[in-house]
Amino acid sequence: VLQLTLAVIKPDAVAHPLIIESINANILENKFLIIRRKDLHWKKEHSEMFYAEHSNRFFYQRLVEFMSSGPMQAYILARDDAIRHWREMMGPTKVFRARHTSPDTIRGRFGLTDTRNTTHGSDSVESAQKEIPFFFPDFCIDRWMKEE
Ligand code: CMP
Repeated sequence: VLQLTLAVIKPDAVAHPLIIESINANILENKFLIIRRKDLHWKKEHSEMFYAEHSNRFFYQRLVEFMSSGPMQAYILARDDAIRHWREMMGPTKVFRARHTSPDTIRGRFGLTDTRNTTHGSDSVESAQKEIPFFFPDFCIDRWMKEE
């Protein structure tokens, strides 16, 4: 069964064409179908809305500023177990762990800091169901997700 996930390439990576190219190659090597792709540049309010659940964390201000600091690319990816596979490809959130325990993952290779960590991915079916329409409001998600 094809599962959908939301993948985002964050401003730190979009600034570097070779990193985007490498992540794109990685997506295709890992048998994902790219269902939708879009370029976007958030205003601070989009960032605040998307990360509202982190609003009481110490890194919230730097996170929302970073996520609206430059262009990003968002993808709807599909394959079996897409959510888990994309998260495994990204590696750990924290850059120290990513570099030391998973140097071959996207964050292990390209992550700069715990905030500027190259990519985002939905962490559950429920979050994919919220995040995909947030980025792709005109994508009809219901048909895909009914099977879950
Ligand atoms: P993401 O997967 O997009 O989800 C929440 C984001 O918050 C995360 O990636 C990082 O960019 C950021 N983040 C999470 N933990 C920390 C932390 N300890 N310090 C700074 N930023 C963090």
